Amino acid sequence: MEHALFALSGLDLLVCLYALHKIRLIHISTFNIEAASVTAARESTQLYAQIQAYLDLLRLVEPARPLPTLRGWAASPDFLLRIAGHARDAAPQRILECSSGASTVVLARCLQLNGSGHVVSLENDPAFAEQTRTSLRMHGLADWATVVDAPLVANAATGTPWYSLEGLTDDPGAFDMLVIDGPPRTVAPLARHPALPMLSSRLSAACVVFLDDADRVEERATLQRWATEFHDFAQTLLPCEKGCARLDRNPKIADGKL
Ligand SMILES: C[S@@+](CC[C@H](N)C(=O)[O-])C[C@H]1O[C@@H](n2cnc3c(N)ncnc32)[C@H](O)[C@@H]1O
Repeated sequence: MEHALFALSGLDLLVCLYALHKIRLIHISTFNIEAASVTAARESTQLYAQIQAYLDLLRLVEPARPLPTLRGWAASPDFLLRIAGHARDAAPQRILECSSGASTVVLARCLQLNGSGHVVSLENDPAFAEQTRTSLRMHGLADWATVVDAPLVANAATGTPWYSLEGLTDDPGAFDMLVIDGPPRTVAPLARHPALPMLSSRLSAACVVFLDDADRVEERATLQRWATEFHDFAQTLLPCEKGCARLDRNPKIADGKL
């Protein structure tokens, strides 16, 4: 009798262990499904926001051809809508851009619609520079934007590799809008920090700056450093899928209060 109980207990134990193993697998799967459904819900909300921004962008800039593929490496529709809205409303005469692509096409189209102005885009990668020039030609926008080959060079002033400014004329206060979407984050820990130290003298007194990817840790650190180094720029964070920071230089001048 004692023997049978032992044999039964051994079998029960195996069944129990097997059942526990299965329960654990079910538990893990349930957790994964819950996490995936939260991600899917977040992504579908974001997708809707980007589709809405894309449709608004198309209505605003009415491009002659389909725009280059957006999101991922390219700017997202909500960021492009922000910069296009400013380019249309404030009608800047000279726009400077760090990194070329879809953003160059959108900004050039805004200036074409405005009837005046020019975009200068610094691009470190010759292949992407050529790709943007081709897009500009296809859109009939070659006269509205210039893509400048600007290899990343060691920078003694900031200690971070950044765009060579050799192809850019030294014209103090020339640009009234600056869009920063490069260099890529892989270049250096604070790859975009040099933008203000290197370009502030070329920006007008009421220049407006847009920084893409402002939700990233590196860009937040860059914004913090700019806040301590440049007291004439007022920073505002705007909701965009990758984060967007808008910096208004001397906002009182722009408001006509000075
Ligand atoms: C964030 S992207 C710039 C995107 C650009 N402002 C636009 O709206 O399309 C920054 C830089 O990454 C590089 N780049 C662009 N697309 C890339 C890709 N698919 N793979 C690797 N690098 C890329 C280019 O040199 C570009 O200047």
